[in-house]
Amino acid sequence: MKPKIIVANWKCNPESSQEAQKLFGISDKKNVVIAAPYLFLHLGKELTYAQLGAQDAFLDNGAFTGEVSSRQLVKAGVKSVILGHSERRIYFGETDELIVQKAKAALDFGLSVIICIGESQREREEGTMMAGRTIRRDVINSLSGIPPKRSGKITVAYEPIWAIGTGETPNPTDINERAKLIKSTAESLGLFGVNVLYGGSVDENNCSDFLNQPEIDGLLVGGASLVSEKIAKIIKIMNNLNGDIYPVVHKEVPAKTKPAKEVKRGTTKKKTETKKTVTLKPKKALAKKQAKPALKPKKSPFSKVKKSVKKKK
Ligand code: PGA
Repeated sequence: MKPKIIVANWKCNPESSQEAQKLFGISDKKNVVIAAPYLFLHLGKELTYAQLGAQDAFLDNGAFTGEVSSRQLVKAGVKSVILGHSERRIYFGETDELIVQKAKAALDFGLSVIICIGESQREREEGTMMAGRTIRRDVINSLSGIPPKRSGKITVAYEPIWAIGTGETPNPTDINERAKLIKSTAESLGLFGVNVLYGGSVDENNCSDFLNQPEIDGLLVGGASLVSEKIAKIIKIMNNLNGDIYPVVHKEVPAKTKPAKEVKRGTTKKKTETKKTVTLKPKKALAKKQAKPALKPKKSPFSKVKKSVKKKK
């Protein structure tokens, strides 16, 4: 069995750094990703076991007021990013096209992506058959065009919109079937080994029902990830279930820094340790060197922006 993972989605919370620090401390356990607001990412640099995540990522640096790019997130120590959460689709008008673009860019910069899909209340009312159709459509729309070689870094979070923050949860065995459908649809796009998470009103009481399903690889936890006792319990249940399985999420061992050279005896001038300065490469050269994010969407307004910026240079 693959080890299960928990992704804590703090959304636009908490209010203060102190609270964020406390939550980071509680959630810093194996197989956990903490998707914190940009504002608190620097506090997560000290995480020992958990991985730092973000809740969105823009395509690239540039004149895009208010945005934060995948390139910047990587520099900030982020390893995974949630994309296309229903709240971003509903409140910020994100389309499948933009989400695919963002996913490609994030993957090009080395991030793992957690792409959210899930049916609305209306689609739910249309019945189970329709739910299956909706899932296939969502997977195809949100993953088409992502190169198969990136499969290992793709997770789909299945979050029925009607279950988010409502306290209402679907039947875990139904979700297991849907996770299977998500995986087989992803495979039809050439994406093998995609992980599937369930999200929507997960708490310390219902988490094991979902975690015990073989096709569900973990949970995306919103509200309960902000309550210390709840998230601590959820993580504990998950890690008990994982047993000694090697964690999927683990911190990379930092490269050892060379000790400062010894000063030879008898030398009058003491060698002082100089700080290495990083010279920033000119933007063009840097852009060439880095893997280029996909900036050629079919109908995205952002490709036009980017092109016109380039022309002006
Ligand atoms: P919830 O949110 O756990 O509060 O329902 C889940 C999510 O939106 O990711």
